[in-house]
Amino acid sequence: MNEEKKVFCGSEIVSAQEKKSVVNNIFSNVHEKYDLMNNLMSLGMHHIWKRKFIDLMRRCLIYKNDGMILDVASGTGDIAIKFLKQNPNYKVVLSDINSQMISIAHQKLIDENLFKNTFCVVNDSAKLPFANDIFSLYTVSFGIRNFSNIEGALQEAFRVLKPYCYFMCMEFSPIEKNGLFSSAYNFYANKIIPKIGEKIANNKDAYQYLIDSINTFPNKKNFKQMIENAGFKNVQYFELNLGLVCIHIGQKIV
Ligand SMILES: C[S@@+](CC[C@H](N)C(=O)[O-])C[C@H]1O[C@@H](n2cnc3c(N)ncnc32)[C@H](O)[C@@H]1O
Repeated sequence: MNEEKKVFCGSEIVSAQEKKSVVNNIFSNVHEKYDLMNNLMSLGMHHIWKRKFIDLMRRCLIYKNDGMILDVASGTGDIAIKFLKQNPNYKVVLSDINSQMISIAHQKLIDENLFKNTFCVVNDSAKLPFANDIFSLYTVSFGIRNFSNIEGALQEAFRVLKPYCYFMCMEFSPIEKNGLFSSAYNFYANKIIPKIGEKIANNKDAYQYLIDSINTFPNKKNFKQMIENAGFKNVQYFELNLGLVCIHIGQKIV
Protein backbone atom coordinates (compact mmCIF):
# COMPACT_ATOMS: atom_id res chain seq x y z
CA MET A 1 0.00 0.00 0.00
CA ASN A 2 1.02 3.59 -0.60
CA GLU A 3 2.27 4.68 2.85
CA GLU A 4 1.07 8.22 1.98
CA LYS A 5 -2.56 7.05 1.74
CA LYS A 6 -4.71 8.96 4.26
CA VAL A 7 -6.43 6.98 7.01
CA PHE A 8 -8.23 7.67 10.29
CA CYS A 9 -6.02 7.57 13.37
CA GLY A 10 -8.38 8.23 16.28
CA SER A 11 -10.29 11.35 15.21
CA GLU A 12 -7.51 12.61 12.92
CA ILE A 13 -6.72 11.86 9.30
CA VAL A 14 -3.04 11.09 8.79
CA SER A 15 -0.84 9.08 6.41
CA ALA A 16 -0.80 5.29 6.84
CA GLN A 17 2.87 5.50 7.82
CA GLU A 18 2.09 8.06 10.52
CA LYS A 19 -0.77 5.96 11.93
CA LYS A 20 1.54 2.94 12.16
CA SER A 21 4.02 4.90 14.23
CA VAL A 22 1.38 6.62 16.45
CA VAL A 23 -0.31 3.27 17.22
CA ASN A 24 3.00 1.56 17.89
CA ASN A 25 3.95 4.31 20.36
CA ILE A 26 0.60 4.05 22.12
CA PHE A 27 0.99 0.31 22.74
CA SER A 28 4.65 0.71 23.73
CA ASN A 29 3.57 3.28 26.32
CA VAL A 30 0.69 1.27 27.78
CA HIS A 31 1.92 -2.35 27.42
CA GLU A 32 2.63 -2.86 31.13
CA LYS A 33 -0.80 -1.56 32.18
CA TYR A 34 -2.72 -2.95 29.18
CA ASP A 35 -4.34 -5.94 30.95
CA LEU A 36 -5.24 -3.93 34.05
CA MET A 37 -6.71 -1.13 31.93
CA ASN A 38 -8.77 -3.62 29.89
CA ASN A 39 -10.29 -4.99 33.08
CA LEU A 40 -11.04 -1.55 34.50
CA MET A 41 -12.36 0.13 31.36
CA SER A 42 -14.62 -2.71 30.28
CA LEU A 43 -15.64 -3.43 33.92
CA GLY A 44 -14.44 -6.99 33.27
CA MET A 45 -16.78 -7.37 30.28
CA HIS A 46 -13.93 -8.13 27.85
CA HIS A 47 -13.58 -11.59 29.45
CA ILE A 48 -17.23 -12.34 28.63
CA TRP A 49 -16.82 -11.08 25.03
CA LYS A 50 -13.65 -13.16 24.63
CA ARG A 51 -15.36 -16.27 26.00
CA LYS A 52 -18.11 -15.84 23.41
CA PHE A 53 -15.46 -15.39 20.71
CA ILE A 54 -13.70 -18.59 21.83
CA ASP A 55 -16.97 -20.56 21.69
CA LEU A 56 -17.40 -19.36 18.12
CA MET A 57 -13.75 -20.22 17.32
CA ARG A 58 -14.42 -23.83 18.22
CA ARG A 59 -17.45 -23.90 15.92
CA CYS A 60 -15.48 -22.31 13.08
CA LEU A 61 -12.70 -24.89 13.15
CA ILE A 62 -13.43 -27.29 10.36
CA TYR A 63 -10.42 -29.49 11.18
CA LYS A 64 -11.50 -30.81 14.58
CA ASN A 65 -8.89 -31.47 17.26
CA ASP A 66 -5.88 -30.29 15.40
CA GLY A 67 -4.71 -27.51 13.15
CA MET A 68 -2.89 -24.24 13.33
CA ILE A 69 -4.62 -20.97 14.26
CA LEU A 70 -3.26 -17.52 13.50
CA ASP A 71 -4.15 -14.83 16.07
CA VAL A 72 -3.19 -11.44 14.64
CA ALA A 73 -2.76 -8.33 16.82
CA SER A 74 -2.57 -10.83 19.65
CA GLY A 75 -1.29 -8.18 22.08
CA THR A 76 -0.81 -9.69 25.52
CA GLY A 77 -2.14 -13.06 24.36
CA ASP A 78 -5.64 -13.29 25.88
CA ILE A 79 -7.26 -15.10 22.96
CA ALA A 80 -4.48 -17.69 22.58
CA ILE A 81 -4.36 -18.37 26.32
CA LYS A 82 -8.11 -18.64 26.83
CA PHE A 83 -8.46 -20.84 23.73
CA LEU A 84 -5.54 -23.19 24.48
CA LYS A 85 -6.65 -23.76 28.07
CA GLN A 86 -9.82 -25.33 26.68
CA ASN A 87 -8.37 -26.81 23.48
CA PRO A 88 -4.84 -28.04 24.14
CA ASN A 89 -4.57 -30.03 20.90
CA TYR A 90 -4.24 -26.96 18.72
CA LYS A 91 -1.26 -24.78 17.87
CA VAL A 92 -1.58 -20.98 17.90
CA VAL A 93 0.71 -18.51 16.14
CA LEU A 94 0.55 -15.12 17.88
CA SER A 95 1.47 -12.20 15.66
CA ASP A 96 1.69 -8.51 16.61
CA ILE A 97 3.52 -5.46 15.29
CA ASN A 98 4.55 -4.38 18.81
CA SER A 99 7.37 -6.38 20.40
CA GLN A 100 6.60 -5.12 23.94
CA MET A 101 2.97 -6.27 23.79
CA ILE A 102 3.95 -9.67 22.46
CA SER A 103 6.73 -10.10 24.99
CA ILE A 104 4.06 -9.89 27.71
CA ALA A 105 2.08 -12.59 25.87
CA HIS A 106 5.26 -14.68 25.66
CA GLN A 107 5.79 -14.49 29.45
CA LYS A 108 2.13 -15.27 30.19
CA LEU A 109 2.31 -18.35 27.92
CA ILE A 110 5.36 -19.57 29.84
CA ASP A 111 3.64 -18.92 33.20
CA GLU A 112 0.53 -20.81 32.04
CA ASN A 113 2.65 -23.69 30.69
CA LEU A 114 1.12 -23.25 27.23
CA PHE A 115 4.30 -22.22 25.48
CA LYS A 116 4.86 -25.50 23.63
CA ASN A 117 1.60 -24.97 21.71
CA THR A 118 2.53 -21.51 20.48
CA PHE A 119 4.84 -19.49 18.31
CA CYS A 120 5.18 -15.68 18.72
CA VAL A 121 6.14 -13.39 15.84
CA VAL A 122 6.47 -9.63 15.45
CA ASN A 123 5.17 -8.32 12.16
CA ASP A 124 2.61 -6.15 10.38
CA SER A 125 -0.82 -7.67 9.68
CA ALA A 126 -0.65 -6.37 6.10
CA LYS A 127 2.54 -8.29 5.35
CA LEU A 128 2.47 -11.70 6.97
CA PRO A 129 5.59 -13.87 6.70
CA PHE A 130 3.60 -17.07 6.05
CA ALA A 131 2.97 -19.27 3.02
CA ASN A 132 -0.43 -19.39 1.31
CA ASP A 133 -3.20 -21.71 2.57
CA ILE A 134 -1.68 -22.90 5.85
CA PHE A 135 -3.93 -21.79 8.73
CA SER A 136 -7.15 -23.48 9.88
CA LEU A 137 -8.51 -20.27 11.44
CA TYR A 138 -7.57 -16.57 11.46
CA THR A 139 -8.58 -14.46 14.47
CA VAL A 140 -8.20 -10.80 15.33
CA SER A 141 -9.65 -9.38 18.54
CA PHE A 142 -9.82 -5.62 19.18
CA GLY A 143 -6.93 -5.15 16.77
CA ILE A 144 -8.20 -4.30 13.32
CA ARG A 145 -9.28 -0.72 13.93
CA ASN A 146 -5.66 0.02 14.84
CA PHE A 147 -4.26 -1.21 11.54
CA SER A 148 -2.88 1.35 9.12
CA ASN A 149 -3.82 -0.88 6.16
CA ILE A 150 -7.07 -2.72 6.96
CA GLU A 151 -7.70 -3.79 3.35
CA GLY A 152 -4.15 -5.19 3.12
CA ALA A 153 -4.64 -7.13 6.37
CA LEU A 154 -7.92 -8.63 5.09
CA GLN A 155 -6.21 -9.72 1.87
CA GLU A 156 -3.41 -11.33 3.86
CA ALA A 157 -5.98 -13.14 6.04
CA PHE A 158 -7.57 -14.55 2.89
CA ARG A 159 -4.19 -15.60 1.46
CA VAL A 160 -2.89 -17.51 4.51
CA LEU A 161 -6.14 -19.38 5.30
CA LYS A 162 -6.70 -22.89 3.99
CA PRO A 163 -9.67 -23.19 1.59
CA TYR A 164 -13.05 -23.39 3.41
CA CYS A 165 -11.53 -22.09 6.65
CA TYR A 166 -12.79 -19.05 8.56
CA PHE A 167 -11.76 -15.46 9.29
CA MET A 168 -13.04 -14.12 12.64
CA CYS A 169 -12.85 -10.55 13.88
CA MET A 170 -14.11 -9.07 17.16
CA GLU A 171 -14.12 -5.30 17.32
CA PHE A 172 -15.88 -2.35 18.93
CA SER A 173 -18.47 -0.80 16.70
CA PRO A 174 -19.68 2.79 16.52
CA ILE A 175 -22.89 3.10 18.57
CA GLU A 176 -25.91 4.59 16.81
CA LYS A 177 -26.61 7.92 18.43
CA ASN A 178 -30.03 7.47 19.96
CA GLY A 179 -31.57 6.15 23.14
CA LEU A 180 -30.44 5.78 26.69
CA PHE A 181 -27.68 3.24 26.00
CA SER A 182 -25.89 5.53 23.56
CA SER A 183 -26.11 8.49 26.00
CA ALA A 184 -24.75 6.37 28.86
CA TYR A 185 -22.02 4.96 26.60
CA ASN A 186 -21.04 8.41 25.35
CA PHE A 187 -20.78 9.74 28.90
CA TYR A 188 -18.68 6.77 30.05
CA ALA A 189 -16.48 6.77 26.92
CA ASN A 190 -15.83 10.48 26.72
CA LYS A 191 -15.75 11.50 30.38
CA ILE A 192 -14.70 8.44 32.38
CA ILE A 193 -12.35 6.35 30.20
CA PRO A 194 -9.80 9.15 29.46
CA LYS A 195 -9.75 9.90 33.23
CA ILE A 196 -9.07 6.23 34.08
CA GLY A 197 -6.35 6.28 31.39
CA GLU A 198 -4.79 9.35 33.00
CA LYS A 199 -4.90 8.01 36.56
CA ILE A 200 -3.90 4.38 36.00
CA ALA A 201 -1.78 4.34 32.84
CA ASN A 202 -0.66 7.96 33.11
CA ASN A 203 -1.71 8.32 29.49
CA LYS A 204 -4.94 10.20 28.82
CA ASP A 205 -4.18 10.58 25.09
CA ALA A 206 -3.81 6.83 24.50
CA TYR A 207 -7.27 6.21 25.92
CA GLN A 208 -8.76 9.19 24.10
CA TYR A 209 -7.36 7.55 20.92
CA LEU A 210 -9.12 4.31 21.91
CA ILE A 211 -12.52 6.07 22.05
CA ASP A 212 -11.95 8.13 18.89
CA SER A 213 -10.79 5.05 16.98
CA ILE A 214 -14.07 3.29 17.84
CA ASN A 215 -16.12 6.24 16.59
CA THR A 216 -14.25 6.41 13.28
CA PHE A 217 -14.20 2.64 12.56
CA PRO A 218 -16.61 1.55 9.76
CA ASN A 219 -20.07 0.48 10.92
CA LYS A 220 -21.01 -3.23 10.92
CA LYS A 221 -22.49 -3.26 7.44
CA ASN A 222 -19.62 -1.35 5.84
CA PHE A 223 -17.08 -3.57 7.58
CA LYS A 224 -18.94 -6.66 6.34
CA GLN A 225 -18.61 -5.23 2.82
CA MET A 226 -14.84 -4.74 3.32
CA ILE A 227 -14.50 -8.41 4.34
CA GLU A 228 -16.45 -9.46 1.24
CA ASN A 229 -14.25 -7.23 -0.91
CA ALA A 230 -11.22 -9.25 0.28
CA GLY A 231 -12.87 -12.37 -1.19
CA PHE A 232 -14.62 -13.92 1.84
CA LYS A 233 -18.05 -15.51 1.42
CA ASN A 234 -20.92 -16.24 3.83
CA VAL A 235 -19.97 -13.15 5.87
CA GLN A 236 -22.13 -12.74 8.97
CA TYR A 237 -21.93 -10.70 12.13
CA PHE A 238 -23.07 -11.11 15.73
CA GLU A 239 -23.63 -8.18 18.05
CA LEU A 240 -22.72 -8.19 21.74
CA ASN A 241 -23.78 -5.62 24.37
CA LEU A 242 -26.38 -3.91 22.17
CA GLY A 243 -23.94 -3.63 19.28
CA LEU A 244 -21.05 -2.05 21.18
CA VAL A 245 -18.97 -5.09 20.19
CA CYS A 246 -19.38 -7.03 16.99
CA ILE A 247 -17.97 -10.36 15.78
CA HIS A 248 -17.65 -10.73 12.00
CA ILE A 249 -17.05 -14.14 10.44
CA GLY A 250 -16.27 -14.96 6.81
CA GLN A 251 -15.29 -18.12 4.94
CA LYS A 252 -12.60 -18.59 2.30
CA ILE A 253 -14.37 -20.40 -0.52
CA VAL A 254 -12.29 -20.85 -3.65
C1 LIG B 1 -6.17 -3.38 21.63
S1 LIG B 1 -4.82 -4.47 21.39
C2 LIG B 1 -5.65 -6.04 21.24
C3 LIG B 1 -4.90 -7.16 21.91
C4 LIG B 1 -5.64 -8.49 22.04
N1 LIG B 1 -5.95 -9.06 20.76
C5 LIG B 1 -6.87 -8.40 22.91
O1 LIG B 1 -7.95 -8.75 22.44
O2 LIG B 1 -6.75 -7.99 24.07
C6 LIG B 1 -4.38 -4.11 19.73
C7 LIG B 1 -3.10 -4.75 19.27
O3 LIG B 1 -2.99 -4.52 17.84
C8 LIG B 1 -1.62 -4.43 17.54
N2 LIG B 1 -1.45 -3.83 16.20
C9 LIG B 1 -1.68 -2.56 15.83
N3 LIG B 1 -1.38 -2.39 14.52
C10 LIG B 1 -0.98 -3.59 14.05
C11 LIG B 1 -0.56 -4.07 12.79
N4 LIG B 1 -0.49 -3.24 11.73
N5 LIG B 1 -0.21 -5.37 12.66
C12 LIG B 1 -0.27 -6.21 13.74
N6 LIG B 1 -0.65 -5.81 14.96
C13 LIG B 1 -1.01 -4.52 15.13
C14 LIG B 1 -1.08 -3.57 18.67
O4 LIG B 1 0.31 -3.63 18.78
C15 LIG B 1 -1.83 -4.16 19.87
O5 LIG B 1 -1.08 -5.17 20.50
